[in-house]
Amino acid sequence: MRSLIAAAGLVLLSAAAYQDVALKDVMPKGMVVGVAINQRQFDGTDAAAVDIITKQFNQISPENVLKFQPIHPAADRYAFEAADRYVQFGVDRKMQVIGHTLVWHSQTGAWVFQGADGKPADRETLLARMREHINTVMGRYKGRIHGWDVVNEAIEEDGSMRKSPWQAGIGDDYVAKAFEFAREADPGAELYYNDFNLEKPAKRAGVIRLVKDLRARKLRIDGIGNQAHWRLETPAIGEIGAALEELHATGLKVMYTELDINLLQNTPRGADPAVANPYANGLPDDVQERLAQRYADVFRVFRKHRKAVTRVTFWGLSDGDSWLNRGRMNYPLLWDRQRQPKPAFNAVVDALRSGK
Ligand code: XIL
Repeated sequence: MRSLIAAAGLVLLSAAAYQDVALKDVMPKGMVVGVAINQRQFDGTDAAAVDIITKQFNQISPENVLKFQPIHPAADRYAFEAADRYVQFGVDRKMQVIGHTLVWHSQTGAWVFQGADGKPADRETLLARMREHINTVMGRYKGRIHGWDVVNEAIEEDGSMRKSPWQAGIGDDYVAKAFEFAREADPGAELYYNDFNLEKPAKRAGVIRLVKDLRARKLRIDGIGNQAHWRLETPAIGEIGAALEELHATGLKVMYTELDINLLQNTPRGADPAVANPYANGLPDDVQERLAQRYADVFRVFRKHRKAVTRVTFWGLSDGDSWLNRGRMNYPLLWDRQRQPKPAFNAVVDALRSGK
C-alpha cells in the first residue's frame, strides 16, 4: 500500500515538475524556441497566454501583424501601431524578435500589383514598391528585429518558380532583388528564405537552387525556414531528417518556423461532419497519445541535428489560438484550450532531456 501511495506521489510530483519546466531551458544550446503571437497576446489582453509565452519562450514571430497588407494597407499609408507593440513585447522580454514576411503573394493588397491604368504594374513600378516597402518596414525596426523572412513561398511543388504576381511582374530575379533591398535596409539583420513541404525532394531541390543562386550573386542569406505544417504520419521522420541534412549542406542555418501538427483531414465544403470534424467533442486519449509521440519524434530529430538547427517556432500557443481550426476543432499545439500543457508538452520535454 505504502509503495502504491509513493508511486502515485511520484507521478503527481513529476506532473507538477513538468509545470515548472520551461522549453527554453531544455532546448539544446544555441537553439532558440519560439511561438507566433497574435494581437491579443502582444497587446496583453490575453494575460494567461502572455504568462506562458513569457515563461516558456525566448523568441517570437508575428502571426499576421507584419505582413504586407496589415502593415501597408494602401500605397500612401502604413499602419505601424500594432507592429510596434509586437516588437516591443519581444524587446521588453529580451526575446529574439522575428519579422515575417516582406515579399509574399498572399496577404498583400491588390493595389501593390496594379499599374496606374488598372493593368498589371510593370517591373520598374513593382521593384520601386518592393524596395520602398522593405526599406520602410525593415528600417523602422532596425536593430530590434533579429531576422526576417525576406521572401515566403516562391517555389512551386515541382521545384519551378511559383507564378506569383511578383514573379509575373518582375521576373524570376524578384527574389534576388528582395534580398538585395533587405540587406540595404538593415545590414545587421539575418535574412531568410521560408517555405513549406521542403521534405519533398522536387520542391527542396528548387529551394536549394534558389538559395545557391542568391549566394552566387553574393547576396546575404543566413537561413532556410521550413514552415513545418505537418501531420501525424507525414512527412515521415526519415524524410524530415534527410531534408534537414540536405538543407544544412548548403551552409545555411536551418529553422523550423511554423511548427504545428494538423489532426484533421482536408475535406470539401459540406463533407460529413464525422469525417470533417471528428474531434468536435474532445480528443480521444489514443490520438492525444499519438500526437505526443509524434512531437517526441520530431524533437528527437531536432536534438540530433542540434548543430544545424538554430530555431524552432510553434505557429500559435494553444489549440484555441491555431489557424488550423477554421470553424472545426483541431489540436495541433502543446497547450490545450484551457491553456494547460498537453501530454505532447511533456513528451517534448522528455525528448529534449533524454541523452540519446
Ligand atoms: C496564417 C495565419 O496563421 C492566419 O491567421 C492567417 O489568416 C493566414 O496566414 N504560411 C505562412 C503563415 O507563412 O504566414 C501563415 O499564417 C500560415 C502558412
